[in-house]
Amino acid sequence: MKKVTMLDIANKAGVSKATVSMVLNKRDGNISEETKSKVMALAKEMNYIPNHLARSLSTKKTNTIGIVLPDITNPFFASIARAIEDGASYLGYNVIFCNTDNEIKKEEKYIKVLISKLVDGVIFIAGGESCTSIKMLRNNNVPFVLVDRYIDSYKEDYGVYCLNKSGVIQGIDYLYDKGKRNIAFVKGPDTLEISNQRLQGYKCAMSQYGIYNENLIFKGSFNIEGGMDSTKILLESKEKIDAIFYSNDLMALGGIKVLLRNGIRIPQDISIIGFDNIHISQFIEPELTTIAQPIYEMGKESCKLLIDIINNKRRLSKQVYFETQLIVRSTTL
Ligand code: RIB
Repeated sequence: MKKVTMLDIANKAGVSKATVSMVLNKRDGNISEETKSKVMALAKEMNYIPNHLARSLSTKKTNTIGIVLPDITNPFFASIARAIEDGASYLGYNVIFCNTDNEIKKEEKYIKVLISKLVDGVIFIAGGESCTSIKMLRNNNVPFVLVDRYIDSYKEDYGVYCLNKSGVIQGIDYLYDKGKRNIAFVKGPDTLEISNQRLQGYKCAMSQYGIYNENLIFKGSFNIEGGMDSTKILLESKEKIDAIFYSNDLMALGGIKVLLRNGIRIPQDISIIGFDNIHISQFIEPELTTIAQPIYEMGKESCKLLIDIINNKRRLSKQVYFETQLIVRSTTL
């Protein structure tokens, strides 16, 4: 079925195509109310949908931003994407979501797609060593904001992050105050700088208390299965453990399942603390104590920052850092 055009409306209304264009683009100051009403009524009756591509080519704007994120199945990213979309809609922008599954090749493919679709800007949550993706955005003069996944090589670019290291220190301080001395740490993927930031917070706090033991550090993968696998290895290590700090909530969920399945009481035998405060962490049993990232605020701020950049609005600082917050629930004693 042929798409309805402005010319179709003009012919039916008995006016010029230019008149229809002025009415539909709200540049209708010199047009009579009768003509305006007739054109608008016909556009609705004929189900006319504007050709945004044509308008974009003339205005060089699409009022669309892209969001590139590593794992849409992780509630952390779903929540941050929701916040960005809320902010974009409020500010009159459409959103294109791109899920990369932490695959760099897929990430680069989506960056090319977004550039080709002439998005006005990109909110980019890196899946790993994302230098090529960032260089493509820069080389094509596409405004972008890095979010959450801090990359030291690009620390001067616009970014919205949480203070990972101090967040973990906050958690260790709490566990120490509760009398825990054998605190294990399940870290995130070594390919991510935020994993290292959290690990540095653990090492710094444990060393300051004189209780650092490198045998209590275990590899992790930021997903539930990874939390289960790491916890099985931790139990097999026979290390004396009275608390486990997981680098994100999903791994803590997996760890709790393994510990309970092995008859370990939480928190009586082992206290558990996570990182993120994803929505589900308050509903599991026992409810998860965690270090909360202000996920929704980070998403909203990243959207506002990007649209300020698109509109050339000056900012005092190119980076925004959010504090974390300790949320005490039932997995710590
Ligand atoms: O749960 C996913 C993790 O990766 C979160 O801690 C968040 O910081 C993201 O980077």
